[in-house]
Amino acid sequence: MFVVVVIIWSLLWVFMFRRESNSGAYFAGMFRVANVEFIPEYRQVESHEFASMANKIQHVVSYVYKQSSVSRLYKQAVISDLSNNNKGGVLVHFWMVFVVPRLKTPAVCEECVGAIFRDSVYTSLQNRSSVGYLLSLPVDLDSILINAVQRSDYTSIAAGSQCIEKLYANLPGMRIPLNVFSSWGGVSCHVKLTAAPGFLIRLTVSSFLVQPTDCVDDGLVVYDALLPMRGRILLRLCEPVTEAFSLVSTSNVMLLSFTMTSGNKNFRGDFEAIIEELCLSRIEIKSHPDFTGDLYSPFYPSLLPPQCSCTWTFQTYSSALGVALHFKNYVLKLKDMKACDQGWWKINEVIYCGTYVDHSTVFRISNPSPEVEFRCSSRTSVQAFEASYTSYNISQPCPESHFLCTTGLCVDKVRRCDGLDDCQDESDEIFCSRPSTNCAGSGSLHPLFVCNGERDCSNGVDEINCTQETTCSGISFQCSSGPCILKKNAKCDGVFDCRDQSDERDCECGDPSPVKKEASSSSERIVGGVNSVEGEWPWQVSLLFSGSMYCGASVLSSDWLVSAAHCFSKDRLSDPRLWRAHLGMLNQGNAKHEAEIQRIVVHKYYNAFTFDYDIALLQLKKPWPPTLSALIKPVCLPPPSHTVTDSHLCWVTGWGYRSEGDKVLPTVLLKAQVFIQSQTDCKKSYSLASPRMLCAGVPSGEQDACRGDSGGPLSCQEPGGGRWFLIGIVSWGLGCGRPNLPGVYTRVSKFTSWIYSHIS
Ligand code: ARG
Repeated sequence: MFVVVVIIWSLLWVFMFRRESNSGAYFAGMFRVANVEFIPEYRQVESHEFASMANKIQHVVSYVYKQSSVSRLYKQAVISDLSNNNKGGVLVHFWMVFVVPRLKTPAVCEECVGAIFRDSVYTSLQNRSSVGYLLSLPVDLDSILINAVQRSDYTSIAAGSQCIEKLYANLPGMRIPLNVFSSWGGVSCHVKLTAAPGFLIRLTVSSFLVQPTDCVDDGLVVYDALLPMRGRILLRLCEPVTEAFSLVSTSNVMLLSFTMTSGNKNFRGDFEAIIEELCLSRIEIKSHPDFTGDLYSPFYPSLLPPQCSCTWTFQTYSSALGVALHFKNYVLKLKDMKACDQGWWKINEVIYCGTYVDHSTVFRISNPSPEVEFRCSSRTSVQAFEASYTSYNISQPCPESHFLCTTGLCVDKVRRCDGLDDCQDESDEIFCSRPSTNCAGSGSLHPLFVCNGERDCSNGVDEINCTQETTCSGISFQCSSGPCILKKNAKCDGVFDCRDQSDERDCECGDPSPVKKEASSSSERIVGGVNSVEGEWPWQVSLLFSGSMYCGASVLSSDWLVSAAHCFSKDRLSDPRLWRAHLGMLNQGNAKHEAEIQRIVVHKYYNAFTFDYDIALLQLKKPWPPTLSALIKPVCLPPPSHTVTDSHLCWVTGWGYRSEGDKVLPTVLLKAQVFIQSQTDCKKSYSLASPRMLCAGVPSGEQDACRGDSGGPLSCQEPGGGRWFLIGIVSWGLGCGRPNLPGVYTRVSKFTSWIYSHIS
């Protein structure tokens, strides 16, 4: 009796344990079957022809995995689509399901599953072609792609299939409308587009009306395949679209996966079959000196697909003339160890990588007949580019009186060291000696001293007529109605400077809230900082990722925060659901308000290698309650003209480490006073500092931010107890608190209009 009970118990236990610990692993894959003629019936899953072909392929896939090391885990393959293909033959899209005991998950890793299939084709390769035979099925080795997918993808497309639309574009040049609505119930829909072989698909998005939530609720993912394969994402659209744009596939198929929660959400657009462009041209640059022409990226103005190529061969009319390419927002740099991901260029046998930037550049080729080859090299769709070309004098690229910037632009020599970034990369403003004030009145005053709020000349001439309207430039303050005044820090200084009074509008910010001053006997902390007191930095926010302190941020309004892009740059970090913002807090764990994040807007030019454009905005799900407005307050945003003088007081704040080797984070918010360096000095410490960065610290290095402070504010108070402005965002630095290695901050005044374009 006892034995029987034990046996039954064990059986029951084994049975339950196994059921509980098994899980499915799902894969989507594609490969090309060569030498098989595509017939239109293959498009109909219900057709007899599809069934027999699918059966055969399924048999082959099963055969491969049943023979492999994971045979016991393999459950089934489902052939989902057979399409005709630009390379000939039939393109197969299929699903695979493995049943895996939880502990064995690594055995069916994505790479392993792909390798098993590739290996079996590889060992059956014939001659020198890329086609191998699996049970007499000719499979193209180069076409195999297998990706792990979410169970939900599998169930929504393969199994349940409540909303799958298949559309065809057979004739090129015919735009087929495509409109998707989330009528009340909310939808998750898949639209499969196929064009005749030899063609590509261009999808035009005219409008996309959704709630922006970083694709958590609403979104569209466009794949360069018929199944949702991660390796084939062309575009993820999580934000509403009101201005039409288009993108192009690399073959004749495309999948659109929509998720739209209930409400009045919709997508409007169309798609068409287009011919693959043969992008090859010879360009002669005519002999008159002002001759220019335009160069466009393939499929312009559509986004660039992951694959494309173009070759332009230039010819100037004299061996003394080279070719200059003028880009609007793109720069070419010699290729280094890293792969090019925004365009690969070969110019006279030298390889360059392209990168998008927010300013113009000139690339000069000192050769009268260069060959310029361009290849798309991104994993997803990227922005199109346009350039114009001219010839230039090889021995003298810039006119006599001009200076050659590192960006390739030529600027008048009188603009060198004038305090204005004419070169767009500050190359005309570094290695300048500190300008002399020139107060005597003979020459003109250096713009740096003019109307900066500081009396630099004893006779005061640098601070007169500051509200007089002048021509607008990067160092003048622009009033809302258009005119510019010389006064650099006119914003929210309590004086009406603009005729339209716009300089004193929206000034509920940077309030020097009356804080109870605590006797500062406190211990040395942050790097060389001291404890803050309650309400001293009411814009300071702590950002927690999955429950742990990860970054800082600053309050801009009742529902927007600003932080650093690098806080959100890796996979899971970009998911807004995993973040919490703690507001009005002095000691960690004692927030006055905890907010959920609705979406994260990372600057589109953020570069994870150089930390350029290290800025991001966070929108809160709900505004913080106005009842807390004594302890939570926005900081002021500096206008582009804002300048920090010696009389400004600047402090960096955060809950980050107190030294480079520190292991415990402080609980109380720390502050350290730092001084803003000139860009010339900044570049002496960090040659890679961009115009979007600023350095701040103390010569000894003893006061600094450190790990954990990232994204938090560098706040500066206007002289004479004025308002606090967000001058910097903690970004990076070499170590923490080292002598002559200041902290590097994102220069907020460069992003004022970018910020307003998102938050207002
Ligand atoms: N990147 C750092 C962070 O993630 C901030 C480093 C600032 N370093 C410095 N020495 N100022 O928190």
